Amino acid sequence: MRKSLVAGNWKMYKTPRESIEFVKVLKDSVKVYSDRDILICPPFTSLVPVSDILKGTPIKLGAQNVFFEEEGAFTGEISTRMLKDTGVSYIICGHSERRNIFMETDEIVNKKVKKIISSGITAILCVGEKLEEREKGNTFNVIERQIEKCLEGIKDTAGVVIAYEPVWAIGTGKNATPEQAEEVHSFIRGLIEKLFGKDFAEKILILYGGSVKPENIDSLMAQKDIDGVLVGGASLKLESFLRIIDYKK
Ligand code: PGA
Repeated sequence: MRKSLVAGNWKMYKTPRESIEFVKVLKDSVKVYSDRDILICPPFTSLVPVSDILKGTPIKLGAQNVFFEEEGAFTGEISTRMLKDTGVSYIICGHSERRNIFMETDEIVNKKVKKIISSGITAILCVGEKLEEREKGNTFNVIERQIEKCLEGIKDTAGVVIAYEPVWAIGTGKNATPEQAEEVHSFIRGLIEKLFGKDFAEKILILYGGSVKPENIDSLMAQKDIDGVLVGGASLKLESFLRIIDYKK
């Protein structure tokens, strides 16, 4: 039985002060679950104060990005060592906003994944097709290419979580149907089995992301190969995030 993961990706929202306020209420309102982990990924500037508040709570802390070098003259960048020191245990990489707005390639994402897992942090590797790729029937090819390239040279998937995030569903309000998502999740699990073996395929968490909200969480989580969610917009409001965390299976 895989323990599921409900992760909030705050993107470029909330100042440190706003993050502190939110997290203080979240930690007092959230129930205790044995079958699911809860994670929030605030902006870099909120990590230190949020980490202090989350100590001793079941809520975990993640970052939204990282650079793959250890340290050096890389103005504006942040290393895994710095993030680890703030209490981060997950880092998102390969998000479509990083790929499309900041031109991150599969090669860059691969370097990031390697650096993250060798630092003892779990990498949340995002993959997903664009609308025109889906319409041309290329969804599986795109996902296969992204996963193969981003996980190249990695011996196993012990420190990896995959997030399937169809680009056309992110921030659009138009989620993939539970059946559309399950089709791709089950394809991804098959691919992990082919690349790393049955054991890793059974253990790996595959999250769905893209317009997850209180109205669709239960039907998404009812799918066999959906092990959790990566939530953008709906993780910024306490009420909706709490309802998503409290999904019924
Ligand atoms: P959304 O974003 O929930 O706002 O669609 C998801 C994501 O980008 O991780």
